[in-house]
Amino acid sequence: MIATSEKDINGLKAIGHICAMTLQKMMEEAKPGMTTIELDQIGAEFLKKEGANSAPQVMYQFPGATCISISPVIAHGIPDKHILKAGELINIDVSAEMDGYFGDTGASMVVAKHIPEYEKIFEATKSALAKALQVARAGQPLNLIGKTIQEEAKQNGFNVIYDLTGHGIGRKLHDEPSAVHNFYKEDERFILTEGLVLAIEPFLTTGKGHVFEKRDGWSLQTIDKTIAAQFEHTIIITKGEPIILTI
Ligand code: CO
Ligand code: CO
Repeated sequence: MIATSEKDINGLKAIGHICAMTLQKMMEEAKPGMTTIELDQIGAEFLKKEGANSAPQVMYQFPGATCISISPVIAHGIPDKHILKAGELINIDVSAEMDGYFGDTGASMVVAKHIPEYEKIFEATKSALAKALQVARAGQPLNLIGKTIQEEAKQNGFNVIYDLTGHGIGRKLHDEPSAVHNFYKEDERFILTEGLVLAIEPFLTTGKGHVFEKRDGWSLQTIDKTIAAQFEHTIIITKGEPIILTI
């Protein structure tokens, strides 16, 4: 969507903040011995308390309030009886709706442990997101975002996941533009405009950069079972620095 009015911007800020707080709460609570259903329940209760609805549930009848992916699954993991273990690489993605506005954020983490190999890919992915936010401004081509992410990934010795993209968002979870690629798509002609609401989510991996959908019909796993990381923010494009909504 294009957010122009004060009402739009405030509505987007409110749900963005709720998504960010929910994600933070879940990351703090992710402990060894708990199931991912239990962790999802913490997120579900938090969203409810804040007056928000889980977007994947509302939009796609996803079997969970949030997506919890256990490596090598990197996206759309279904909360289930899986028991979290120390040292496990996981991704939590929270998207939600309130008053007709949507927010979307996500982060990768290690459960109860410091693992340098994982920290390295986290830092590179966060850096790719930060650099993408710096170039995401009105008048710039959309494909500059992917170009920037891909270059930063390469610089740090990683590949992007080509199949997974960011997206327009706002009045819907997935809005126009339908894809914000994480690589340089030369024939992409879309130009960023003021007020455009985007979810930017670089996915970096040590592998070839492709995923497949598992038999549960949701979970997206790297084809080569390599590790991957994702960090995501929802933003509003301006003439200057974007407004980051999911903080
Ligand atoms: Co997300
Ligand atoms: Co998203």
